[in-house]
Amino acid sequence: MTNKYMYFIANWKMFGAVNSLKSLNKVVKFFRTFKKKKFVKIIYCPPNTLINLMSKKLKNSKISVGGQNCHEQENFGAFTGSINAKMLKNVGANYVIIGHSEIRQKGETNKLINLKIQSALNSGLKVILCIGETLYEKRKKKTKSILKNQIQFGLKKISNKKDVIIAYEPVWSIGTGIIPKSNELFETINFIKRITKNKKVLYGGSVNSKNIYQLKQIDNIDGYLIGGASKDPKKFIDIIKKTYN
Ligand code: PGA
Repeated sequence: MTNKYMYFIANWKMFGAVNSLKSLNKVVKFFRTFKKKKFVKIIYCPPNTLINLMSKKLKNSKISVGGQNCHEQENFGAFTGSINAKMLKNVGANYVIIGHSEIRQKGETNKLINLKIQSALNSGLKVILCIGETLYEKRKKKTKSILKNQIQFGLKKISNKKDVIIAYEPVWSIGTGIIPKSNELFETINFIKRITKNKKVLYGGSVNSKNIYQLKQIDNIDGYLIGGASKDPKKFIDIIKKTYN
């Protein structure tokens, strides 16, 4: 695992104020001299209010910035409270998370996700597409059919699929401290890779500096989408370091 290209995506969700940006100093400093740097891609996804300041702060650091969602419409328009991909790009984002379960749960459909992905790609953003089954679906043994649907409808008619990274996040793992069994996770990631023809597939859901030892043994995972643990620079750095030692 030592020389594998891996993504470490920090999803700050609805956390963070201007003074939270200070916590990035530690990460920038660590990354500057990290010996496995060329194998590591770090992407911070803060709330929209911090994207501009954060991308200025991270300029020259080789750390990228992304949004956590965007409106499906590519052009500006009368959509109170919304932000589109073009606006994210304009303030320094190069990535956007789309289809996070916390947004799907509020009614975001695969069709809407597909439109969002199209507009993000057309606006020059790379996409982190989140997919994952709920506990109910898992118990009903529907995991594979749910994931297949999310991928097929989400990526329908998308031609430049190379700019889409998949993050497999079982809904029952997010924020619960529970991660899937290693053999099941390996199998599910392989299943996703088969459908997407070997795309990069990340894992997300309760990744922390303890279970990273278990997760890093699963060698078909191409990185992690990290929520809770990404807000603390020490924990985030620890996850990266432990992945490579
Ligand atoms: P978590 O969140 O690491 O806090 O479980 C992951 C996510 O929701 O992307």
